[in-house]
Amino acid sequence: MNDRSIVVLTGAGVSAESGIDTFRDLGGLWENHRIEDVATPEGFARDPDLVHSFYNLRRRKLLSGAVQPNPAHHALARLERELAGDVLLVTQNIDDLHERAGSRNLVHMHGELLKARCGACEALRAVSGDIARTDVCHHCGRAGTMRPHVVWFGEMPTDMDRIVERLARCDLFVSIGTSGQVYPAAGFVDIARRAGARTVELNLDPTDVSDAFEESINGPATETVPPFVDAVLQREAQSTTTRGGRRD
Ligand code: OAD
Repeated sequence: MNDRSIVVLTGAGVSAESGIDTFRDLGGLWENHRIEDVATPEGFARDPDLVHSFYNLRRRKLLSGAVQPNPAHHALARLERELAGDVLLVTQNIDDLHERAGSRNLVHMHGELLKARCGACEALRAVSGDIARTDVCHHCGRAGTMRPHVVWFGEMPTDMDRIVERLARCDLFVSIGTSGQVYPAAGFVDIARRAGARTVELNLDPTDVSDAFEESINGPATETVPPFVDAVLQREAQSTTTRGGRRD
């Protein structure tokens, strides 16, 4: 069987070596911040300034110049460019490192740090600076409604229909740098397995959900992802040659 239709799920681990903190590792973001305070609609309603300052700091760091895509991001962009099939990259990350590396067929299921959304009219706008409680929506003109375009706990991730449709017909599902603690992403492997897909996990260490995958590869993403992508592309090239160059 070849890997013509691929869904890749990425989590914080793929950006860790670019200098972005993960959530649940030692020293991760959830060690110093309460999820209820900074990543729920209720927390935002209670203390918008605190929530804005949490995401403003993360945005400043992302745009500081010190944070750049790493070889894992670049390898995934190459997979999309070179595979003679289709690749959907689903990321839980709100950074833009996959785009900067060249990935285009990408879903940010937990939103994007570089966008603000109006809580009243849902209009989106690109942001490279801070968002403040007093900001005015460019679309509806209301003040005090702008929020980071991120999905908080208790909210629905974006583009779920498209993601599930692709999982249900993929040949290969790859999960990279995610602890598998947060649903619905943690359940993607089950959908892919039911579809008969090959399932592979790439993570620094074994996770609590490693058993759900056919194969687990451990190590830093910058070292495991590039050779994994090479192997997928080689496998595809060989299967094309075996079929006498026929691309069916
Ligand atoms: P986690 O912090 O839960 O997990 C990161 C995973 O990456 C862990 O399993 C690490 O072992 C692994 N890891 C760390 N460094 C790595 C490296 N260099 N190479 C490979 N793997 C590495 O982050 P996520 O699973 O992404 O949601 O978290 C999922 C969601 O929970 C986030 O999107 C966020 C968070 O709460 C929201 O805020 C809604």
